[in-house]
Amino acid sequence: MPAIIIFLFASLLTLIGSASFLITASIVLWTGMHETLLIGIVWFIIFYFLTLAVHRLHIWFFPLTPGMYADGSTQEFHYQLQTLFVIVFFDPILHRFPLPLPLTRLFHILLGVKIGKNTYPSASVLSHPYFMLTIGESCILGYGSVFSPHIMESGLLGAQPITVGNYVMIGINAVILPGVTIGDNSIIAAGAVVLKGTIIPANEVWGGVPAKKISERTPLASPAIP
Ligand SMILES: CC(C)(COP(=O)(O)OP(=O)(O)OC[C@H]1O[C@@H](n2cnc3c(N)ncnc32)[C@H](O)[C@@H]1OP(=O)(O)O)[C@@H](O)C(=O)NCCC(=O)NCCS
Repeated sequence: MPAIIIFLFASLLTLIGSASFLITASIVLWTGMHETLLIGIVWFIIFYFLTLAVHRLHIWFFPLTPGMYADGSTQEFHYQLQTLFVIVFFDPILHRFPLPLPLTRLFHILLGVKIGKNTYPSASVLSHPYFMLTIGESCILGYGSVFSPHIMESGLLGAQPITVGNYVMIGINAVILPGVTIGDNSIIAAGAVVLKGTIIPANEVWGGVPAKKISERTPLASPAIP
C-alpha cells in the first residue's frame, strides 16, 4: 500500500481522534459527567460516528465506478483508502463483535448497503464496497454466506455491483461473487459459489461449485407475501 495512503489515513485518524476527544471533553464539562466508563462510551460512540461520517463523505466525493482499477489510478487510490477504513474500523464491529440484529442492519445501511425491509444481514459477510450491494426485501441470508463485490485479479483491484431481488434465499455458506444478479424468489443452495457476472433469473434454484441451475420455483402470487 503506497505511503501516501497510509499518511492520509493516519492524518484523518488523528483528526477524527482529536475531534471526538474535543467533543467528548466539551460534553463532560457541560454536563459535569465524571464516570470514567460513561466518558469512554460517549467517546467511542462519537469516534465511530465521525469515522462513519468521514467514510461516507469520502465515498460521496470520490465514488468508485464498477470495473477494474489501473495500478496507480485515482480510483485505486480511493479504493485502498476506503478499504483501510473498512479493515480497521468497520469489519471488527460487524464480524467480531456480537451486535444485536437490528443494529447489524442499521450499521450496514449506514455503510451504504441498500437493504429492503424484513431483510437482516445478521450472520452473513457483506463486503466492501458496501454501496455496490443491493439486497431486496424479505430475503433470508444464510449463516456464513458471503457477498463480495470487490475483485482482485492479476494484481489489479476492481469492483462490480451485486444485486439480489426480493424473497430470495441465500443458503448457508454460499458465496456470491462480483457482478452477480439474482432475481426475485430464487434460491441459492447451501455451499454454492455463484461466479462473477452470473445472472440468475427470478424463480430459479441454483447450487454447486460453480453454481448451476438445479430447478425452478413456482412464481409468487402478487402480493407475494402478506
Ligand atoms: C437447494 C435446496 C433448497 C434444494 O432443496 P430441495 O428442493 O429439497 O432439493 P433436493 O434435496 O431434492 O435436491 C434436488 C437436487 O438439487 C441438488 N442439491 C440440493 N442441494 C444442493 C446443494 N446445496 N448444492 C448442490 N446441489 C444441491 C441435489 O443433489 C439434487 O440433485 P439431483 O436432482 O441431480 O439428484 C437445499 O438443498 C438447500 O441447499 N437449501 C439451503 C438451506 C439453507 O442454507 N438455508 C439458510 C437458512 S439460514
